Amino acid sequence: MTNALIIGGSSGMGLALARTLLADGMDVTIAGRSEDRLAAARAELQGKISTVRADIGQEQDVADLFARMGPVEHVAVTAADATGVYGRTADVATAAARAVVDTKLLGAWLIGKYAAGHVTGSLTYTSGINAYRPNGSNTIVAAANGALASLAYGLAVELAPVRVNVISPGWVDTPIWDQLGMDKQAAFAELAERLPARRIGTPEDIAAAFVSVMRNEFITATVLHVDGGHRLT
Ligand SMILES: NC(=O)c1ccc[n+]([C@@H]2O[C@H](COP(=O)([O-])OP(=O)(O)OC[C@H]3O[C@@H](n4cnc5c(N)ncnc54)[C@H](OP(=O)(O)O)[C@@H]3O)[C@@H](O)[C@H]2O)c1
Repeated sequence: MTNALIIGGSSGMGLALARTLLADGMDVTIAGRSEDRLAAARAELQGKISTVRADIGQEQDVADLFARMGPVEHVAVTAADATGVYGRTADVATAAARAVVDTKLLGAWLIGKYAAGHVTGSLTYTSGINAYRPNGSNTIVAAANGALASLAYGLAVELAPVRVNVISPGWVDTPIWDQLGMDKQAAFAELAERLPARRIGTPEDIAAAFVSVMRNEFITATVLHVDGGHRLT
């Protein structure tokens, strides 16, 4: 593997993937909205990555990102804006619902649109357990995540032989939880007891799944569940 673009690489799972791919000797570029988060990630990785500011909710940003990248072997997408979308459907602001669809689903589609002709190996998206195990307070995120599977199947046909897949994580301890205003350690402990894996996921668990999908040239149009068995709880 030669080079990779990680959209959402300045935090959480994307940052863990950047660390893993760098250790494998790849050229890594990360993209995200906040220059500060990108700079912090670059500092953490000792300046060994390139960074690009881009918001996947903005078509021009996505177009510019791929025009600037040129050929790229692997694209991984972990970006999502899920601010304010958790709660009963009647209580969720429509603007928040639009934002999650604009980033997780339409943003993913924009990436497929503008990656065409630039990506040569694989394109891998991130959905999530709530698509398969909704809990009554995450319906719009679940819908966007679920639709990513169909998007990936369609793009896998359109962009072939480029492979297009989805990683579906279970609960993983990353900064995304900090915006939820809940006692995450208590929630993690309660779920860990019930999960067949008996623990919450780590960003490195998800990074390893991305790498396996990137490397395996016979995996395409697939949703890989990396959730500790959460779908069975
Ligand atoms: N953590 C979990 O338990 C869990 C479970 C299931 C699924 N997931 C999914 O896994 C993915 C990664 O989550 P994470 O936990 O690693 O989250 P995270 O730590 O919050 O990282 C999200 C990354 O995406 C970037 N981002 C957000 N909105 C963006 C946008 N509009 N354009 C470009 N970049 C954007 C963020 O940077 P900026 O804010 O600077 O843009 C950040 O680098 C998400 O799709 C999430 O829905 C997470």
